[in-house]
Amino acid sequence: MTRRYYVTTPIYYINDVPHLGSAYTTIAADVIARYRKLRGFEVHFLTGTDEHGLKIQREAERRGIAPEVLADQMSAAFRQAWPALGCEPDDFIRTHEPRHVAGAQALWRKIRAAGDIYLGDYQGLYCVGCEAYYTDKELLPGGVCPLHKTAAEPVKEQSYFFRLSRYGERLLELYEKNPEFVSPPSRLNEVRSFVRQGLQDLSVSRTTFRWGIPVPDDDAHVMYVWFDALSNYLTALSAPVDHTRFWPPNVHLVGKDILRFHAVYWPAFLMAAGYPDDALPRQILAHGFLTYGGQKMSKSLRNTVSPLALAEGIAPWLGVDVIRYCLLRSISFGHDGDFSIEDVLGRYAADLGNTLGNLLHRLLPFASDAAARAAAEPAGPLEEALRSQVEVASRAAAEAFDGCAPTRALEAIWVALTAANSYVDRAAPWAARKQSPARLGTIVLTLAAALEAASVLVAPVMPRVAAALRQQLGLAPLVPRIGADQWPLDLPARDPGHAFAPGEPIFPRLDKERIAELRTRFAPPAEPAAPGGGPPGVDPAEPPPTRPSPARAAPAVKTPSRPRAAEAAAVAPAEAAPEPAVPTAAAPKAVLDFDSFAKIDLRVGVVRTAERIPKKDRVLSLTVDVGEAEPRRIVAGIAAHYAPEALVGRRVVVVANLAPRPFGGGLGSHGMLLASDTPAGVRLITPDDASPPGAPVR
Ligand code: MSP
Repeated sequence: MTRRYYVTTPIYYINDVPHLGSAYTTIAADVIARYRKLRGFEVHFLTGTDEHGLKIQREAERRGIAPEVLADQMSAAFRQAWPALGCEPDDFIRTHEPRHVAGAQALWRKIRAAGDIYLGDYQGLYCVGCEAYYTDKELLPGGVCPLHKTAAEPVKEQSYFFRLSRYGERLLELYEKNPEFVSPPSRLNEVRSFVRQGLQDLSVSRTTFRWGIPVPDDDAHVMYVWFDALSNYLTALSAPVDHTRFWPPNVHLVGKDILRFHAVYWPAFLMAAGYPDDALPRQILAHGFLTYGGQKMSKSLRNTVSPLALAEGIAPWLGVDVIRYCLLRSISFGHDGDFSIEDVLGRYAADLGNTLGNLLHRLLPFASDAAARAAAEPAGPLEEALRSQVEVASRAAAEAFDGCAPTRALEAIWVALTAANSYVDRAAPWAARKQSPARLGTIVLTLAAALEAASVLVAPVMPRVAAALRQQLGLAPLVPRIGADQWPLDLPARDPGHAFAPGEPIFPRLDKERIAELRTRFAPPAEPAAPGGGPPGVDPAEPPPTRPSPARAAPAVKTPSRPRAAEAAAVAPAEAAPEPAVPTAAAPKAVLDFDSFAKIDLRVGVVRTAERIPKKDRVLSLTVDVGEAEPRRIVAGIAAHYAPEALVGRRVVVVANLAPRPFGGGLGSHGMLLASDTPAGVRLITPDDASPPGAPVR
């Protein structure tokens, strides 16, 4: 049986061009759609533009053009923006299109016929920015909208009302029976308590402007823009092609600011139109805000970032995938998160260049060794371990994508990529090449299989990177097929005769000039630009936005303007992470939850050997006993602070589960030493003598 999946984004107001904040929702929806397509689902991914209402009418007046003209221009800008950001919606709906107008009117008629729309008088307060009615108690002192910081306008007019008050109980039952209807759970609580306070009937028509869908049989009224807009999820399915088989939606992706409309009004409209519970949308998934300099990224705050300019700045064509990766990896989906160019540069160098790209380019020099591949011997314990790590990651990523948790999926995938890099260090193909072609053959096939799996695992988030990887691996592009599950739940078997097509590095090192230019162009806004003070749209009850910290081992990244003191105190290979100027008093960092802290594997280590490395005068090469069968090699940027002989026998604290880092000449670093930064230089942290090697540090 065909498995179907219907995913939507909100439809965007056309008073603004798409920016990185609005792109966030569409990219996330695209990732979910691509994942489902690879799993063999028949997917319908809908986005579009919300073109009616007072806000748009006023914007058109401000520009001195007719609203229709504004709608045509701006919807075209949105339509073009998405493919340029790697998004492939299956349909794009405009609310000014005839199919939508007819569909919204049909929905209205159904509800009216059911007796849940009636004519009355409305008197109250309205925020045009939100296109929403407010009660006095919902506004700030002076009748000011908490999101837009502008005064809500008094409205007094005849209006049609939707009998929302009738649906409180049924909505609460729906949430009770389907707690996943609103996700994450904290948002469900918010919605539930709003409904429990008692629902008022909702004014759903306006008479004081004309830019909207006419109310059926009463031309004096146009529909309330949210009634009009929400119905797009339904109207898009019926014309011009019949897509009604996709109903009900599996997930409506929305920003937290528009949760109430989707989790309360929308199901209530559908209930009133006769939809039983099992024909209602399955889930409303609310994500947080992308902030910039701590403020919600938005046109009104003049703090937007153009996603295309940013992507182009990083790299033509593949830069888009870098942005997609960074947005979804750094901002835990569901929470607010701050955009930072440092984060992008750090992740580009570390996660993408040093972990993913490097894995490919550690394989390719050996891949053409046909003799080795022909003689491959059976897999040994190292190969079995890697195979199982990749399979575990693949399942974990599937589970996370199934639950629309792309951040978690990427974390799982990167654990496997790190393990694959470790495998290269341990399997040492450069040594096998000299000693045993059959062993080299096994290593090449194992790595090729892991990379083939990786090319599928990263494809939902980075489709262009996946294609580039596959090309160099000599594989055909991924083409989703309905009914065919292509997710690599089992590591693919490799044909020893398979030809590779080595090419240029996928993530070339960015040169200093480019990095400097990106830093200047995308430096965070100096001052919060919020009119009237506080951060608009940032829920005051929430913890402050998480500012993603740049990945630690970022080779080409320095942050003179924003020192990362505590990070620098972990002693990484000097080449890999040039030490920034570090103040002695570290700036406080964002609060870390215990689970995140617990992921760091800190252990007591004892330095067994220490030596200088020719031509690398900032680092020492150490072997450190951390309680494993063999001491680990750790390359530490401490040559200026310690003589090698003074270190042998010394106890240290090792970060033991940090991604291994290649260091050139076949040397890898398998851990990091903790140290403090003092005015006198770097000082190693030393546990007392009673601590045996390998003892956990907590
Ligand atoms: N037109 C309504 C939605 C109607 S859906 C039936 C609307 N449009 S909007 O253009 O203002 O916002 C569209 C989406 O973009 C919302 O989900 C909103 O949360 C999201 N974002 C806009 N700026 C954003 C950020 N800075 N960060 C994350 N998402 C942001 O609301």
